[in-house]
Amino acid sequence: MNQESISQSIAIVHPITLSHGRNAEVWDTDGKRYIDFVGGIGVLNLGHCNPAVVEAIQAQATRLTHYAFNAAPHGPYLELMERLSAFVPVSYPVAGMLTNSGAEAAENALKVARGATGKRAIIAFDGGFHGRTLATLNLNGKVAPYKQRVGELPGPVYHLPYPSADTGVTCEQALKAMDRLFSVELAVEDVAAFIFEPVQGEGGFLALDPAFAQALRRFCDERGILIIIDEIQSGFGRTGQRFAFPRLGIEPDLLLLAKSIAGGMPLGAVVGRQDLMAALPKGGLGGTYSGNPIACAAALASLAQMSDENLATWGERQAQAIVSRVERWKAQYPFIGRLTGVGAMRGIEFVNTDGSPAPAYLAKVLEAARNKGLLLMPSGKARHIIRLLAPLTIEAEVLEEGLDLLEQCLAALN
Ligand SMILES: Cc1ncc(COP(=O)(O)O)c(C=O)c1O
Repeated sequence: MNQESISQSIAIVHPITLSHGRNAEVWDTDGKRYIDFVGGIGVLNLGHCNPAVVEAIQAQATRLTHYAFNAAPHGPYLELMERLSAFVPVSYPVAGMLTNSGAEAAENALKVARGATGKRAIIAFDGGFHGRTLATLNLNGKVAPYKQRVGELPGPVYHLPYPSADTGVTCEQALKAMDRLFSVELAVEDVAAFIFEPVQGEGGFLALDPAFAQALRRFCDERGILIIIDEIQSGFGRTGQRFAFPRLGIEPDLLLLAKSIAGGMPLGAVVGRQDLMAALPKGGLGGTYSGNPIACAAALASLAQMSDENLATWGERQAQAIVSRVERWKAQYPFIGRLTGVGAMRGIEFVNTDGSPAPAYLAKVLEAARNKGLLLMPSGKARHIIRLLAPLTIEAEVLEEGLDLLEQCLAALN
């Protein structure tokens, strides 16, 4: 692979060149086949080249490939927003806008939160990830490599510990840290919004403590502070439901969507309370490409396949296969730590004998697995957690084959 013309600041996990893919398999330009447990980092919940998505893209490409929605609306955008507002499980009527990416959705949510509340400060969480643009960088709860060498970032942004059974941080500890924040660092009247992932993606597939989410919802309701939930990675069936936030027992004010919304086409969305989404002046939201008709057509074809029944069946099948394997591996291999996450959104932690993160073990497994024909993706603050993101539509035998390959790599490491 000739990389001279590629920025050296892009870190490449797998130094191969892909040629084509089908459902949960991809092939490189040498013809080598891989089982894909990366899924384009959570974009391909419905698999590579999902036939209905491909058909919708092809049909739309012959009708209208682009029109800036701000200049003149087009059918696929209108249809998708109507479909999305029915798909998002909240008790209030929503309005929204489409974007090109997840980070752009987060950026726009920050603008909306500022515009609607007239306040500035945002509270995010340790280990969280919301994007690589300047404002979203500051939200990320991890410095290296994202925030290095880029200087001052848009703020103010503060971070709290992320309470989760997967991290061992309790609800009480997080609430105590919040008390401290508002007595030592920041006036609570200045807070526009809290932002979090219900299950952290980049952070290592860590599930938020529902008790904390409920306490936070009460706290915010009493003070006119917004809650922005980022379902960019956890949404569209990854946890076995449309979204992960209902298991927290709360509703967001603004919801961020992207990745598996459109079966591989670049698309994101911010949806939320109608009054909030009207807080900025006309022209305050928009973008030349956002809500591209082909991406919208792909999203409509994706959503048509995401019935609650399909999502539950796919999620449960994948979760069962993963949980039973990893429980066995935990007993067999001392370097396997926690199985993090919920549903089919699962992370496998690698630890040293003292329980500390073991990224070196993970790196060895990643390489060995690739050589055997299995693509894996790291995550976690120390990059010591393999996040499993195989398409939900993966054939049962391909899933088992992939888990067999992973098992062979673990046995070789023992
Ligand atoms: C939870 C979450 N939010 C935001 C983003 C940023 O999305 P994008 O890469 O499309 O800008 C990501 C990307 O991995 C993500 O996982």
